[in-house]
Amino acid sequence: MDRRTFMSWVGLGLLANSLPVAIAASIKTKPRADGFVPVGTLKQLQSDGVIQVPKFVAGPLLAIRNPQDTKKLVAVNATCTHRGCKVNWQAKSKQFACPCHGSAFKSDGSVVNGPASKSLASFKVKVEGNSVLVKAS
Ligand code: FES
Repeated sequence: MDRRTFMSWVGLGLLANSLPVAIAASIKTKPRADGFVPVGTLKQLQSDGVIQVPKFVAGPLLAIRNPQDTKKLVAVNATCTHRGCKVNWQAKSKQFACPCHGSAFKSDGSVVNGPASKSLASFKVKVEGNSVLVKAS
């Protein structure tokens, strides 16, 4: 196999690998009549500890189990209120953490450490069967 053929096969492999991620990231589900959007499953939440929807209709979304009452779920807009970086859920510390300037937020989105001074926006969230649904507005 010559170098050109080999490189074309490598390129096809990379494309095939990234295609499902690209498709999943671009899917935008329309809100139902009640405003809720299915964002994932309880099984997914159980296995991953968090549901992440970077392109949720109302902004990047993180949904978790409430550490204070694991029967309840919490959904927040992952946009840091300091300068707009995306926060991550830190299961060990039970906080949302911003990688840019170190802000930290409680599981309800309220500020623990600045420089951010405003809470993360939160969304209404509910469970129907195995589905996790978040209200878009
Ligand atoms: S953007 Fe999050 S702390 Fe600055």
